Amino acid sequence: MTPPFRKIVLDETDSTNSEARRRAEAGAPDGLAVVARRQTTGRGRRGRRWESPEGNLYVSLLLRPDRPLAEAALLSFVAAVALGEAVAAMLPSEAPIAFKWPNDLLVGGAKCAGMLLESSAAGAGRLDWLIVGVGVNLASHPEGLPYPATDLAAAGAPAPTPDAALETFLERFAHWRDIWSRRGFAPVRRAWLARAAGLGGPVEVRAGNATLRGTFAGLDPEGAMLLESAHGRRRVTAGDVFFPAAA
Ligand code: BTN
Repeated sequence: MTPPFRKIVLDETDSTNSEARRRAEAGAPDGLAVVARRQTTGRGRRGRRWESPEGNLYVSLLLRPDRPLAEAALLSFVAAVALGEAVAAMLPSEAPIAFKWPNDLLVGGAKCAGMLLESSAAGAGRLDWLIVGVGVNLASHPEGLPYPATDLAAAGAPAPTPDAALETFLERFAHWRDIWSRRGFAPVRRAWLARAAGLGGPVEVRAGNATLRGTFAGLDPEGAMLLESAHGRRRVTAGDVFFPAAA
């Protein structure tokens, strides 16, 4: 069994990922959760800013799995499945929760949570540390983003608090990390695919200036998105996914 997380709760920090990284570099062991009420420079994927007012959840998990570096991304699916269950426990049972590849959680088709993974190698292709940063919109969400956003209160969760969301998420994460350690990625992949947004339908993946189009055919054993098109099947390892509106 995974031991419980040690928590550091800060009123304010630049970014919980940055704080977790400083602690990782100072030698903190596996199993630390750095939480902040507010972040002054919260960071999103691909260098974007993550707005971080009080009332939402901002947490970074410091992990030191004795695994190849190439497996780091799998822990984001472990975290996504755990977060999906934590969010489901806070929302009415009919709330439509879905995962958007690679690391987003959607409620009613709008983004409610995102993850930022950062890692460092120990040498010989092994992981030294991995930080899984999770931001969940509980009480508010930003407007005017390229992808619509929402928050749990708007989606019908009664008074979701960061502390309650954190406890459920950490408990579910420990559960799914155990499953991953004992049985590998297959059960995690199944649980993720059971809630995958757009599976079997048309998607666009934008990475830099390139846009790939095709059918979202699944997830491979390394967590890459499988995209099928007239050119065949390809693995996609990075990018932002969009679901084109039906014609
Ligand atoms: C994304 O969807 O772009 C990822 C967002 C990740 C935001 C979280 S909030 C806690 C942690 N600290 C950060 O600076 N970023 C992550």
